[in-house]
Amino acid sequence: MILHTIRDCDFTGKKALVRVDFNVPLKDGIVTDDTRIKAALPTIKYLLDNGASVVVMSHFGRPKGKKNPEFSMAPIAAKFSELLGKKVVLAHDVIGTEVEAQVKALSAGEVLLLENVRFYAEEEANDPEFAKKLASFGDVYVNDAFGTAHRAHASTEGVAHYLPSYAGFLIEKEVKFMAPLLENPEKPFVAIIGGSKVSSKISVLESLVKTCDTIVIGGGMAYTFLSVQGHAIGKSLVEEEYKDTASSFLSKAKEKGVQVILPVDHLCGADFKDTTEAIKIDSVEIPENLIGMDIGPKTIDLICKAVGSAKSVVWNGPMGVFEFANFAEGTLTVAKALADCKGTTVVGGGDSVAAINKFDLANKIDHVSTGGGASLEFLEGRVLPGIKALEK
Ligand code: 3PG
Repeated sequence: MILHTIRDCDFTGKKALVRVDFNVPLKDGIVTDDTRIKAALPTIKYLLDNGASVVVMSHFGRPKGKKNPEFSMAPIAAKFSELLGKKVVLAHDVIGTEVEAQVKALSAGEVLLLENVRFYAEEEANDPEFAKKLASFGDVYVNDAFGTAHRAHASTEGVAHYLPSYAGFLIEKEVKFMAPLLENPEKPFVAIIGGSKVSSKISVLESLVKTCDTIVIGGGMAYTFLSVQGHAIGKSLVEEEYKDTASSFLSKAKEKGVQVILPVDHLCGADFKDTTEAIKIDSVEIPENLIGMDIGPKTIDLICKAVGSAKSVVWNGPMGVFEFANFAEGTLTVAKALADCKGTTVVGGGDSVAAINKFDLANKIDHVSTGGGASLEFLEGRVLPGIKALEK
């Protein structure tokens, strides 16, 4: 996958229309995690340093095509300005004559942030007229919104039909780390996939089994796999309707010679509550009155050994109910194993990224993706419309 990137363009005197993903968590009007804003700064700074004026656009939340002050970009604009160390003017709308005048008045080195693009239903409908209006705000289009690249919306895909289009540094970096995992990963390649449901992770398993040497299946979804192998899983989560899928996945992995690591021991609880006491079960078989809620120490050892000798590792999805202190150990140890791994490590997906951040290990991972749904779809081998539009 070769992309047009901002290195391919001379920005002197140009207006750059830049799509970022500033869909960040807010609490009481304060940005509680600014990772996505920081991740877009290298691109914005590069454009400003290279003579452009910059019109930035993003969505925030899901205002369902209506203007709603609750979803205003205002608190995000303030954080963006603080982190950029420069004034950022927030437009009061996304399109319209007032915004047009603000864009026209913008000089090289200045930044204008549009209001939430999802204030217009035309954004998610990828309406061509709306995309054309947005496109009229720039001489060139730069997309750095990896987190929204799986959406074919006007500001992520539509606009690329009307302007020369380039990937920013963030999209370039996300692709640089993730594309090789699907094409030619350095071997041994270990994929660690967790989370609660087989249904939401089966596509990524099917995709990664083509290139990995070892696949670890943890989290709630592991019990459906153990169940099809004939093991007792007690009161653990099971998706009956996915048992056949799980079974044919295991056969496929075997045919390909891919090692599958499933839990061989567990931490269980009597109830699914954060106060539940952790009961160690030193066997793959779970007693009928218990729920599997985390992997046990023997499973942790198996995973750590596999990760220790890996040249590439990707991790998506927690190993247990890590939000409950008594069941966080498996996820924490996997996070630490990745942090210590000498190979290339990539973490994607909302929950595993949250775990890495909770344990303060992000700076020890080669690449922590800024995409939740987007990184999962990328690893599933799906075409991301926002990225396709930037391909050479
Ligand atoms: C995300 O946070 O995953 C992206 O910003 C996309 O948001 P969406 O799921 O509302 O399209």
